[in-house]
Amino acid sequence: MPAWANTSNPDMKSHHLTILLLALSSLLAVPLSAAAKGSAAAGQQKAATCEACHGKDGKSMDPNYPNLAGQHKSYLVKALIDYRSGQRSNAIMAGFASQLSNQDIQDLATWYSVQDGLEDLSIK
Ligand code: HEC
Repeated sequence: MPAWANTSNPDMKSHHLTILLLALSSLLAVPLSAAAKGSAAAGQQKAATCEACHGKDGKSMDPNYPNLAGQHKSYLVKALIDYRSGQRSNAIMAGFASQLSNQDIQDLATWYSVQDGLEDLSIK
């Protein structure tokens, strides 16, 4: 029997420790990769700038400003990238989007996408 398969081998203790450490490090890697894709917590902080128009948590109170809460993340990312590049033109949003990094866009889009959307207000 090879040494690694012998469960009475005293080395097994450190072997188990290695497995435990590997498992822990893969758990720790989850928040890191989540940050690369977008962090709702970071987005919430960054959304302070947006609140005046888009409302708290993206629920706009003014019909001139679109609701962002519960919108698809990919839609929000695309909208912000398009404002930033000028592909979508709006004088107000061009200014705000020009300040945003790719990570800001990911974080903001993640934050708004995980909010509850509007209730159905008009159709009964
Ligand atoms: C001064 C008011 C104002 C502020 C502040 C503001 N926005 Fe906007 N936003 C608007 C307006 C007006 C529109 C609609 C523009 C259009 O018709 O394309 C809009 C549109 C958007 C859209 C597209 C929504 C859709 O339904 O297509 C996104 C996404 C967005 N804003 C995100 C943000 C983010 C993120 C911030 C903060 C960094 C922000 N906005 C700050 C006024 C504002």
